[in-house]
Amino acid sequence: MQKVAPPRTYRVKSFGCQMNVYDGERMAELLAEQGIAPAPEGEEADLVVLNTCHIREKAAEKVYSDIGRLVKDGRRENGTSPLIAVAGCVAQAEGEEIMARAPAVSMVVGPQAYHRLPAMVADAVAGRRAIDTDMPAETKFGALPARRKVGPTAFLTVQEGCDKFCTYCVVPYTRGAEVSRPFADLATEARRLVEAGAREITLLGQNVNAWTGEDAKGRAIGLEGLIRELAALPDLARIRYTTSHPADMTEALIAAHGEVDKLMPFLHLPVQSGSDRILKAMNRSHSAESYLAILDKVRAARPDIALSGDFIVGFPGETDADFEDTLRLVDAVGYAQCFSFKYSPRPGTPAATMAEQIPADVMDERLQRLQAALNRDQHAFNAASVGKTCEVLVERKGRHPGQWLGKSPWLQSVHFEGEAEVGEMVALELTAAGPNSLSAIRREPATA
Ligand code: SAH
Ligand code: SF4
Ligand code: F3S
Repeated sequence: MQKVAPPRTYRVKSFGCQMNVYDGERMAELLAEQGIAPAPEGEEADLVVLNTCHIREKAAEKVYSDIGRLVKDGRRENGTSPLIAVAGCVAQAEGEEIMARAPAVSMVVGPQAYHRLPAMVADAVAGRRAIDTDMPAETKFGALPARRKVGPTAFLTVQEGCDKFCTYCVVPYTRGAEVSRPFADLATEARRLVEAGAREITLLGQNVNAWTGEDAKGRAIGLEGLIRELAALPDLARIRYTTSHPADMTEALIAAHGEVDKLMPFLHLPVQSGSDRILKAMNRSHSAESYLAILDKVRAARPDIALSGDFIVGFPGETDADFEDTLRLVDAVGYAQCFSFKYSPRPGTPAATMAEQIPADVMDERLQRLQAALNRDQHAFNAASVGKTCEVLVERKGRHPGQWLGKSPWLQSVHFEGEAEVGEMVALELTAAGPNSLSAIRREPATA
């Protein structure tokens, strides 16, 4: 590799989950601290970070095609390609191979090592390629700069990694073991986020409800304790958390849903399948019945809770009868929204080599039927919200003049017209439900 001029501009492209987005924001902050500026919209950057996701199909192929495109189109004015860093979960899983196959890449950095990115950029400028997919004991969080300006909604990663080892999933391999960030660090970061303008904080983790720590008095607490602590921040209006695992849905956390007003009435609790046989093969540690029993308790604590989940269709060995069980579970829950995916064999996971992989056309058909059922329920949920009055956090301007966009407590997108500003909580009456959002009009808050 040749020496190159130090990059003046960067762009971070994030392709994965919210934690991947959080990591992308933090990498951007690290680069900004080095005096590198975000590339203006529409302009090629001197340094491009591809912040990749490995969860489903074709992740690696996509990275190589993105690299190809950057080499071809991403010419800087001096006629060279941009510096390219591959970060995120594909970097972790296939870093060595990327270094071997893509000479245009000068940095490969895993999701637990990206605090070393500035040093790697210095190496790249000096003409040295570098790969870092360590999971160092020194945590990346400790080395990250304080956060600057933020919007009204902010992410805060509280927990990383996963010990659950669902048989289809790469996360335990790309993110490593479950680690909780210390309470004091989180309290400080949350306070700074609020000071910088956040009104809503979403606590993030691959298994966010597995978070544990000690509060300021040294008492052992779980996620509910962290939520209660953050709820005491006066200027913080809303708290959310994602993604949770049924096995870590403790009584204390369920109780918090009924007791902490700032904890929004929304729960994303993936189930994956409604068939106990398949759940067992997935190593999910819950049954359809035990999952439904958790939802009953949550509903008892917070009757207006909106539920969300994740599903995989076509897991190896899934029969028509197994799939019918999934549809039955969907009918029993009545989700407000959901994500559903075709099973994708991931290299190195146990399910990838199981017998009875399901043909693509069967998966397609099942996914269509599942999504039809989930869409039906989403529309029903939105339609049932019409007529309600609720608070909406204004997130940004809409497409039309005078229009604003925000989220309801139940995470629905809401648009309305009138006087407002970003970050304001406004009282609205929901007046109509479209396929993906609701319209609303201003209402004076009810006075007690
Ligand atoms: N830790 C979270 C989410 C992990 S990834 C949880 O356990 O709920 C997000 C979703 O991607 C999963 O819930 C699952 O539905 C889906 N997913 C993970 N691996 C997959 C695979 N190999 N094929 C298809 N979907 C997958
Ligand atoms: Fe993957 Fe299962 Fe861990 Fe979720 S709980 S990250 S699906 S292994
Ligand atoms: Fe993807 Fe890694 Fe998140 S694989 S879903 S970016 S943890």
